[in-house]
Amino acid sequence: MFNISMIGTGYVGLVSGTCLAEIGHHVTCVDNQTQKIQMLKKGKIPIYEPGLEDLIHKNMKAKRLSFSTSISESISTADFVFIAVGTPPRSDGSADLSYVENVAREIATHLKKYIVIVEKSTVPVETCEWIKKTILRYHKGNTPFDVVSNPEFLREGSAVNDFLRPDRIIVGAESQKARELMQKLYGPLKSPMVFTDPKSSELIKHASNSFLATKISYINAVARLCEKVGANVEEVAEGMGFDKRIARSFLNAGCGFGGFCFPKDLEAFLWISKKLGEDFHLLESVKKINEEQKIHFVHKIEQALWILQGKTIGLLGLAFKPNTDDMRLAPSIDIIHMLQERGARIQVYDPIAMPQAKKVLKNIKYCKSLYEVTKDADCLALVTDWDEFKEMDLKRVKSLMKHPTIVDGRNIFNLDRMKKLGFSYHSIGRKSV
Ligand code: UGA
Repeated sequence: MFNISMIGTGYVGLVSGTCLAEIGHHVTCVDNQTQKIQMLKKGKIPIYEPGLEDLIHKNMKAKRLSFSTSISESISTADFVFIAVGTPPRSDGSADLSYVENVAREIATHLKKYIVIVEKSTVPVETCEWIKKTILRYHKGNTPFDVVSNPEFLREGSAVNDFLRPDRIIVGAESQKARELMQKLYGPLKSPMVFTDPKSSELIKHASNSFLATKISYINAVARLCEKVGANVEEVAEGMGFDKRIARSFLNAGCGFGGFCFPKDLEAFLWISKKLGEDFHLLESVKKINEEQKIHFVHKIEQALWILQGKTIGLLGLAFKPNTDDMRLAPSIDIIHMLQERGARIQVYDPIAMPQAKKVLKNIKYCKSLYEVTKDADCLALVTDWDEFKEMDLKRVKSLMKHPTIVDGRNIFNLDRMKKLGFSYHSIGRKSV
């Protein structure tokens, strides 16, 4: 079992560090935000992620997981140093890598014995090379080290499971020694490992996220055609998905993708392609379709209600997807702004994301329950497919609403059922009933 220093206790660092402790390693999670580390030491976690809190408590108790603000201290005993700091987007779409550079310089200063430096943050291709150059520039001595790319494929809401049961683990390493060590590190997971050079590994992350975003925009474009001809996008996706080469997942039409990964990574990949002299036109379209999809959703609400001025819209779901409180680049934000521009009154309910939403969404009424948001609404607009919404008591909802109208941006209800219940029901890529 190894000693690991995990630098950065954001989403990726905290989940990865905890799960590496869970499989038996000794992990120190490091962050320069003293307050955050103090909170974590008390077992309080700053993000909402199912299963994570229990796992943190369990591994702290077993003394495999600890927290610190000192990079130098944690590096001194580490076999692996993971870089999991933020790489926020700049206004031109490129990633700001200054945190990564700072950590590389710190590592260079404190390097005393061979370690494997693992790049875990989502970074542009060639970052491993820059980390290596930076360490060589700032390190005084000839201590050997390796820099390895090991992109994460965690989905918010199921990150713990994704880490412990991954489809594959990608390792981009130059030396055989680093490959063997990475194999031992992840050995307990017994998952397929793919070894590449660092640049290919970095590109696998770009290409995978952009491909998944492409699948979503593709089916959203198909959904709009389905609406025009009266077909059903769910059936189209089902029929396509049975072909193993296509596969059914990520073919769910909706009111657009969001979150801090797809939109940001698309921008970053586009930026890199342009920088390298290649125009990746396809990705421009993926982005455009996604923007249009949110507008399309608002148009659907207008089609259902005509004039929105003075009407009350009950918005169900704020987070960019279920099982997270993450509001970053959530479609709900743009949708609410468009509805407000048209003079609609907005009342919202989300099982988890309302405290986060309050920081970014003003002039809306936050309701305590699904049924409160329904009360006196001219229309319900469903943006996030939480299980709680799938299980709602539709008869009760109908009795509470001014007019039983639902515009469903995630296609969670069966058309026949909605028709029988007497709703005016509008979804994506399906007939309105
Ligand atoms: C995504 C990838 O799925 C992860 O593999 C990757 O590690 C992560 O980005 C990252 O780069 O860190 P995440 O953003 O957490 O994960 O969420 P997804 O489950 O992929 O959903 C993203 C968005 O797409 C959501 O808004 C969701 O509602 C939307 N979506 C997803 C659809 O509209 N249709 C689908 O069929 C699937």
